[in-house]
Amino acid sequence: MKVIIAENYDDMSLKAYEIMKQVVTSKNDAILGLATGSTPIGLYKNMIADYVKGEVSYKNVKSVNLDEYIGQGVGDEQSYVEFMRNNLFNHIDIDLANTDLPSGKAVDMQAECDRYNAKLASLNVDIQVLGIGGNGHIGFNEPNTPFGSVTHVVDLTERTIKDNARFFNSIDEVPTQAISMGIKNVMNAKSILLLASGENKADAIKATVEGPVTESVPASVLQLHPNCYIVVDKAAASKLSK
Ligand code: F6R
Repeated sequence: MKVIIAENYDDMSLKAYEIMKQVVTSKNDAILGLATGSTPIGLYKNMIADYVKGEVSYKNVKSVNLDEYIGQGVGDEQSYVEFMRNNLFNHIDIDLANTDLPSGKAVDMQAECDRYNAKLASLNVDIQVLGIGGNGHIGFNEPNTPFGSVTHVVDLTERTIKDNARFFNSIDEVPTQAISMGIKNVMNAKSILLLASGENKADAIKATVEGPVTESVPASVLQLHPNCYIVVDKAAASKLSK
C-alpha cells in the first residue's frame, strides 16, 4: 500500500490524476475500473481537462463500474450510469459501447450478476478507482462481505443509506439495494487507486491502512494488493499514526 497525503480535495484529485494519466498514456486501450460518489469527481474533471487540451484520448479505452442502485438506470437522475455520463463519459471521446455498469433494472438480477462476472473475468482491469464508505465499504461491499465475493445484490446498511441521502430529495427515496462488484473482482485489478477526502473518512482510512485485515472493514483487504495507492487529503489522513 502506498499512502499519498494531499493538502486538500483539489490536491488529492491532482495527485490521483497523475497516477491515472500514467496508465492511460502508457496504454491507449487501457481498461479502467471506475467509481461514482462525490470523491472521484475532481479526478474526472482533471481527466476531462487534459482530454480537452488534447493530451489524452479515450477512444480505445474500456471501462467497467463498481456498482448501480437496484431500480435505477439510464434516464434516472440518481442512477450511477447517468452519473458517469454526466461527470465523465459525455465529456471525453470514450465510446459508450465500451463502457459498462451492472444494470439495476435487470429483470433477473442473478443473471445480471452472472453476466457482469463473466465480463469482468474476460477483462484485465488496469486501474480500479475506489472511494470508501465511512464504514470502510468499497463498491457497495458493506462490512462482513466475504473477501471472496463476486458481483452480487447488496442490502445497503442504514449508515450508507443515510450517507447517500444527500443526493436525493429525501431519505425515503434512497434505494435500499444495489448490485455491486464483489471484493474478489476489485482485487483482480492490476492496480488500485483509492481516494478519500474529509474528516468523516478518517476512521475508515485508519482502519484500512493501519488496522488488521478483516472482513469487518472491507477496504482493509487492500493491504493484500501488490499495487495499491491510497490518495487522501489531510483531513482523511488525520487519524493515521504517522
Ligand atoms: C461508488 C461506490 C461507493 C463510494 C463510497 C464513497 O461507486 O462504490 O463505495 O465510493 O460510498 O462515496 P463518496 O465518494 O460519495 O463519499
